[in-house]
Amino acid sequence: MTETINLSAKIEEKLPAELVDFMRQAGEAATARGQKLYLVGGVVRDLLLGRANLDLDLVLEGDAISLAEQLAGTGGRRLKTHPRFGTAKVQWQRWSVDLTTARSETYDKPGALPKVKPGSLADDLFRRDFTINAMAVELAPGSYGHLIDPYRGLDDLGSKLVRILHPVSFIDDSTRIWRGLRYEQRLDFHLEADTLRLLKRDVPMLDTISGDRLRHELEMVLREERPEKVLRRAGELGVLSQLYPGLTGDDWLAEKYADARTAGSSSVEVYLALLAYRLTGEETEGLISRLRLPNPLARTLRETVSLKARLPLLADAKIAPSRIYRLLEGNSLPAITASLLAADSAVARQHIRLYLDRLRYVRPTLTGRDLQQMGIAPGPRMKEILERLHEARLDGKVTSKKGEEEMVRGWIF
Ligand code: CTP
Repeated sequence: MTETINLSAKIEEKLPAELVDFMRQAGEAATARGQKLYLVGGVVRDLLLGRANLDLDLVLEGDAISLAEQLAGTGGRRLKTHPRFGTAKVQWQRWSVDLTTARSETYDKPGALPKVKPGSLADDLFRRDFTINAMAVELAPGSYGHLIDPYRGLDDLGSKLVRILHPVSFIDDSTRIWRGLRYEQRLDFHLEADTLRLLKRDVPMLDTISGDRLRHELEMVLREERPEKVLRRAGELGVLSQLYPGLTGDDWLAEKYADARTAGSSSVEVYLALLAYRLTGEETEGLISRLRLPNPLARTLRETVSLKARLPLLADAKIAPSRIYRLLEGNSLPAITASLLAADSAVARQHIRLYLDRLRYVRPTLTGRDLQQMGIAPGPRMKEILERLHEARLDGKVTSKKGEEEMVRGWIF
């Protein structure tokens, strides 16, 4: 006989009172409708692991939108609904809870989004990715806190295993390959032996996934606390080169990511630029179209490529600050930061740092208006004078407003 596990004490301990109150209220409201409501997915896993997670996913055997409408009616809560998917989001203050109608999913062909229809909790848990994510907690008042664990997720949590529910799981949805690596590395678990075997077998199925979905998965990886661990594992298993040939999750990358965090400059943009850093310009374009990168990210990658070509110039110890400025200006901060982190030359790094710390803020004191008062008409000549002043400021040839005025007089008379 399996023993009943109750998580109500853990819920009280780990979740803020506002969310606990909401869940109790939601459980009562569902029961009053003769329906069953459950807490599911990642938050159940994290409650059992004692990890923080405030992303509540509630599943209702019934119409989730109608229940959400009722719950949003009280306490100044906002409601967003997606009738097509039977999902709703209730938000108030800094809290947000997802409510979903329990559903079953079928996959017509690999890589396509599933066909969805209302179902039971059992269906809803069966459609999930891994046993550790396929547990639920009852929220009805009479059985509040009971753990429902049809696939022995709790045992797998104890053995630190990431295990799929059935052998075609990665074929149905190959994004689970990336998800599996994320959980394995985040939690310091292992892919269970059969899961690992099937994952390796199904890596080519990632070809069936759209660029948008792949980009989303990669972004989720780059939002992990230590993305380099996931990328290293993805490299070992051929998942990274499947994403784009030439990408590597090696020591160099791990070192650069750690440096980015130490410098307080880790972000998805910087991490992605470092991941792509060793690709050629042409390969970078390939990656941009493979992942259908939106403009800001594509721009960061393109700028990183062009900055890489300028590094030998920046590595010249005798280069003037105004030249450093010209080489770097107009590029986005993530691209410059990635170049700083990736540059081999200490001199180049020093110059990029000088730009970031000081040069990018330098401006001449005199403005166009001041120049007009000195008798210079607006136009190309004024523009040139302002540029020369900027350059003189950057190179420390002038350090005061008075000095600037003298300099301008020297030029115009
Ligand atoms: N899920 C799934 N297959 C997917 C995506 C999601 O089975 N391809 C299920 C899992 O049960 C997962 C839940 O939906 O736990 C919620 O998805 P998501 O928020 O992506 O996962 P979390 O487990 O909450 O992950 P994280 O801790 O990274 O937020």
